[in-house]
Amino acid sequence: MLKLDSFLEERRIVVDAALDRFLPSESERPYILHQAMRYSIFCGGKRIRPILCMAAADLFCDSYEPAIGASVALELLHTYTLIHDDLPAMDNDDLRRGKPTSHKVYGEANAILAGDSLLTLAFEVLAGVEPSAPGQASRLIYELARASGSRGVVGGQYEDLASEGKDPTADQLDFIHLNKTAALIRAACRMGAIAGGASEDDLEKIGVFGERIGLAFQAADDLLNATSTAEQLGKAVGSDAEREKMTYVALYGIDQAREKTKALLRGAMSALQALSRPAPILESLATFIVQRKS
Ligand code: IPE
Ligand code: IPE
Ligand code: MG
Ligand code: MG
Repeated sequence: MLKLDSFLEERRIVVDAALDRFLPSESERPYILHQAMRYSIFCGGKRIRPILCMAAADLFCDSYEPAIGASVALELLHTYTLIHDDLPAMDNDDLRRGKPTSHKVYGEANAILAGDSLLTLAFEVLAGVEPSAPGQASRLIYELARASGSRGVVGGQYEDLASEGKDPTADQLDFIHLNKTAALIRAACRMGAIAGGASEDDLEKIGVFGERIGLAFQAADDLLNATSTAEQLGKAVGSDAEREKMTYVALYGIDQAREKTKALLRGAMSALQALSRPAPILESLATFIVQRKS
């Protein structure tokens, strides 16, 4: 049996050490900007995208090392989305990863710039990755770029904000969740598989897994916003209902949302079973994503 807690902790340490290597030091100018970038990265976070990426690489080449650069890029990009998501113009949140949000500490302009810098650094890191196969860096850059722009995370964020106060529909909710959250989690799995040298067939299948577990991830996030506490989550609770966000809970209610989340997990597990080799670590991570308490 995989001891998931110690596994997650061990991988978090690896990811954090790599992030520390790639991020500019606080003693480099502009000091406050570099401080703000490091503040949001190191004030907490589960590191679930890098951990999925490393697990996908490990599955195909028995090592997570080739996926370190991709994992760092994913976490940098994810953290930029959180900083911007919390801004007054978006969700206007004061708490993130158990600490005051970037704009509360550094002001709005600096928070926007810290987000911009993390986004840009993500691609700098990917472009500089020592490829284990020809053309690999550009494939990784493509995956991350495709998942994060207007046909991915940014598009999902647009629809999330545009849907506030509207009657929820399944079609609109699926679009939001697929883009704002599942796109990056799918990319994490695919980038790990590319770094690990997976076949095209496995790459396709692990992408299906990533999308399904990404949808389950956001459904679980919607449930936690409605049922958890700020202490437990390290971010605001009840805020989705306050802002009349289009969420799983708004559309289905808590009980049905829980059932739907379990069904998404089953779908993700069946995608794993289609892979050319058993993936027990990804199975455990998938269960964790749905059962997590924060
Ligand atoms: C929060 O993501 C934003 C969503 C997509 C729901 P995480 O729950 O992975 O946040 P951290 O990285 O652990 O803070
Ligand atoms: C965050 O979505 C998703 C992105 C930042 C792309 P939410 O707004 O639903 O997540 P939390 O609850 O603030 O983490
Ligand atoms: Mg949001
Ligand atoms: Mg938010």
